[in-house]
Amino acid sequence: MPFKEGDLVVFLDHQDRSFRKVLKEHGRLQTHRGFIDHRDLFGKESGSAVRTSKDKEFYVFYPTLVDYTMNMPRMSGIVYPKDAAYMLMWGDIFPGARVVTGGVGSGALILALTRQVGTTGCVFGYDVRQDMLDHAAQNVSELFGEVPPQLTLKIGNLYREIEEDSIDTVMLDVPEPWEVVRPAAKVMKPGGVFVAYCPTIRQVDILTQELRSSTSFGLVDTVEILVRSWHVRERSVRPNHRMVGHTGFVTIARRIIRVRPPVEALEPEAEFSEETTTSDTLNE
Ligand SMILES: C[S@@+](CC[C@H](N)C(=O)[O-])C[C@H]1O[C@@H](n2cnc3c(N)ncnc32)[C@H](O)[C@@H]1O
Repeated sequence: MPFKEGDLVVFLDHQDRSFRKVLKEHGRLQTHRGFIDHRDLFGKESGSAVRTSKDKEFYVFYPTLVDYTMNMPRMSGIVYPKDAAYMLMWGDIFPGARVVTGGVGSGALILALTRQVGTTGCVFGYDVRQDMLDHAAQNVSELFGEVPPQLTLKIGNLYREIEEDSIDTVMLDVPEPWEVVRPAAKVMKPGGVFVAYCPTIRQVDILTQELRSSTSFGLVDTVEILVRSWHVRERSVRPNHRMVGHTGFVTIARRIIRVRPPVEALEPEAEFSEETTTSDTLNE
């Protein structure tokens, strides 16, 4: 579909710098590498190369979800795409899933969830702040053209109550996710997935203790996603010198039905796990 006035686009250069713009008849992208008049793009296809007034090359695209998320206006920290990708997969978000999430914040995670559940699913996004919900609604509308029917943005405190039921996945980015363990247990389907994004390990520690002592959750696990990009040029093939050192941790647990009290609450964890023993044996 050729570009026209009113389209949301991203300009990307060879060093992965990106600029997000809505195309206007008299609009201009101004950079230190020269300017591009928006009207020069009208009629061109997504992915077209254009040159600035200083003869530098940019490519212009309709934004992918990653392009959009990384360039959208923010009022809060966001869940970055590398973590969101893992959370969608391990949270088992499928077309038709019923998902409760919060805090909505700037809406980065909401965008990924809304797209993944599709038109047959439901995402219920909670936040305690109306200004955050309004801001997220703007970001969602700009990308999807509206707040799609599968997304409900609502004011509410997840620590107190979740109003929906038969929930497949609860996915959190709130300061005290351990406060949501009990409300989540009440509304989740057995076998469902609890996912929490925590920027600090202290949050992970408290959350893990709460999940392990709960009779409703098991198989608690925490990961950190480190992405290392590589420099691949002729004979110089090596990791790039810079990488993002830290964003957050992702803790996952399954909604279970116990017949006995949680083992973890009774016994200290064994020093050598089965996993360690197996890999040691393999290495011998
Ligand atoms: C870091 S932001 C979330 C960012 C969001 N995940 C994103 O990707 O854009 C945290 C949000 O949690 C909200 N919040 C804090 N406590 C909450 C609670 N008890 N229930 C619901 N939302 C809460 C805050 O208002 C804030 O908007």
